[in-house]
Amino acid sequence: MVEKVLLVGNGAREHAMAKKIVENENKLFSYMNYENPGIADLSEKFILGNLTNFEKLSMFKNIDYAIVGPELPLSYGITNYIEDKLGIPVASPREEVAKIETSKSFARQILDTYRIEGNPYFKICETISDFESFVKENDLEIAIKPDGLTGGKAVKVYGDHFSSYSEAEVIVKQILSRDELVIIEQKIKGKEFSLQVFTDGKNIQLMPLVRDYKRAYEGDKGPNTGSMGSYSLPDHHLPFLEQNDVEKAINILKKTIKALKEHTSIPYVGVLYGQFMKSEGKIFLIEFNARFGDPEAINVLKLLKDDYNIINQSMIDQSLKNVNFENKATVCNYLVPKGYPLNPLRDKRIIINHPLKSDLFYASVYRKNKEIRTTTSRSLALLGVGDNIVEAKKKVNEDLTRIEGKLYWRTDIAELE
Ligand code: GLY
Repeated sequence: MVEKVLLVGNGAREHAMAKKIVENENKLFSYMNYENPGIADLSEKFILGNLTNFEKLSMFKNIDYAIVGPELPLSYGITNYIEDKLGIPVASPREEVAKIETSKSFARQILDTYRIEGNPYFKICETISDFESFVKENDLEIAIKPDGLTGGKAVKVYGDHFSSYSEAEVIVKQILSRDELVIIEQKIKGKEFSLQVFTDGKNIQLMPLVRDYKRAYEGDKGPNTGSMGSYSLPDHHLPFLEQNDVEKAINILKKTIKALKEHTSIPYVGVLYGQFMKSEGKIFLIEFNARFGDPEAINVLKLLKDDYNIINQSMIDQSLKNVNFENKATVCNYLVPKGYPLNPLRDKRIIINHPLKSDLFYASVYRKNKEIRTTTSRSLALLGVGDNIVEAKKKVNEDLTRIEGKLYWRTDIAELE
């Protein structure tokens, strides 16, 4: 049966979701903040609007189900709005359970309350003296996190953003001057990995593990970005993890989904993505995300063997069954404007010399007079798929030379650790 699917969001992650939605002749309807050329071309109809104001969504008619890409509308309760006001089922979590991403204090408290492993030592501070006593009892090797969504960029870490008590105090005071609380956590040093699962609130289906690279420059140096690239391996594992490490991460996700149901009485429906770190043999939960990772979605959706729309429907119907992925390697490279993220060159033309051997995803670009131009954020993602990582990386590397523009990218994505 042909389905009419409403997709919310406009990045490369949503372009990857859109490509899967339109398989098997299903129809895509899109709600975007700005016009992503890739999504626009795949859509029967698209409407541009604010991702935190949902009134225009009622302009879409006869939609079978909706799905939400980014976290911002989830934090504003878009799922509740679409389900309750428009009567359309949604394959993304409701506001009460999406809080596992949208409030870091809530996430830490859920782990603590339900005795789920993965928390570093932490304190939810309401005053500067809470912060002072935490640092006295522990030490200054900490991460300072605002409670709400920050796009990962407002987290301040000892050694990177401050190196003395007084510098840390300034950051904490700044956050407390606008928010009610700030989360202080032990700084975890190690290798990060992304584990995403589909869940209907009871059952989970694992996706291949992905390694994401967030720093702007080669060798994991420079400022944090939305991500510069990612890879996954044919066996769906990562070289620096033991099976036991993966089991621990899976257990954290499983127990959290159960705890959320107990805590809110609402099943968590959609993708739950844990950002984990392995440090000195232990597995720590860095944060939860109530949606696909970007770019992790690009890696895993390409490998999906089953019908994406059927998976989404089965999460909504609470009948999620086996989900299968190809045993191939994937390498994703983001191309970003020169100067990104500090001083990006915007409005610069990008020329794509087709044909490409890898898959192309539009991120934050715009199209004017048939020309693609940069904005201040990431421009394009390329995904190479192969029987092994060398083959996948080769395809991306060849295509990188076929893209012209004032762009740069990291060449060390997927250099195995
Ligand atoms: N890969 C980082 C994120 O999606 O938040």
